[in-house]
Amino acid sequence: MEFQALTVCRRSVRGYSEGVPHEILREILKTAQQAPSWKNSQTARYYVAESPEALEKVRAAMPGFNQKSSLNATLVVVTYQQGVAGFTAGTPDNEIGNGWGAYDLGLCSAYLILAARDRGYDSLIMGLRDADSLRKALEIPENEEVMAVIALGKREKEPTPRPRKELEEVARFF
Ligand SMILES: Cc1cc2nc3c(=O)[nH]c(=O)nc-3n(C[C@H](O)[C@H](O)[C@H](O)COP(=O)(O)O)c2cc1C
Repeated sequence: MEFQALTVCRRSVRGYSEGVPHEILREILKTAQQAPSWKNSQTARYYVAESPEALEKVRAAMPGFNQKSSLNATLVVVTYQQGVAGFTAGTPDNEIGNGWGAYDLGLCSAYLILAARDRGYDSLIMGLRDADSLRKALEIPENEEVMAVIALGKREKEPTPRPRKELEEVARFF
């Protein structure tokens, strides 16, 4: 799909009929891997819940409204390795510190949700989740920061388009 159209038709979807087949999921994750990262450190990590058991564990770590929104979807828990992006030999390169790992993961997540849309699948990024429960359930190492759960699947419910601020409110040109 043409890029501009892709960015406009990608919306947060809160109702799914099915998840994403395994092979397509692999392609989507490979596209997410193409995102730029600090010194190409590639600290984003993906924990993909496909089996009913894994899905149940991830769902249990989310509040009821996110469980409802993501029913039937494939769930991807995204994390990043701390102390790598934005660091040299364990010392932060500047004041942002681990913010760079989060920045890089955001880029990967953007690629991921657009790659899904490009293949006819929708998404919902969910930041409201219990990180400790997810860490335990999926054996996520302590050096990784658990960020979000991303639901991926075929839309069942049409999304409500959300407005964007005027460009003048968010950008200044010099
Ligand atoms: C970091 C992040 C966390 C979010 N967490 C949630 C969430 O927990 N539950 C939810 O329903 N939507 C969540 N959203 C979706 C936003 O509400 C949504 O992206 C925003 O309203 C704009 O709508 P759009 O994605 O359809 O353009 C999150 C989005 C981002 C980027």
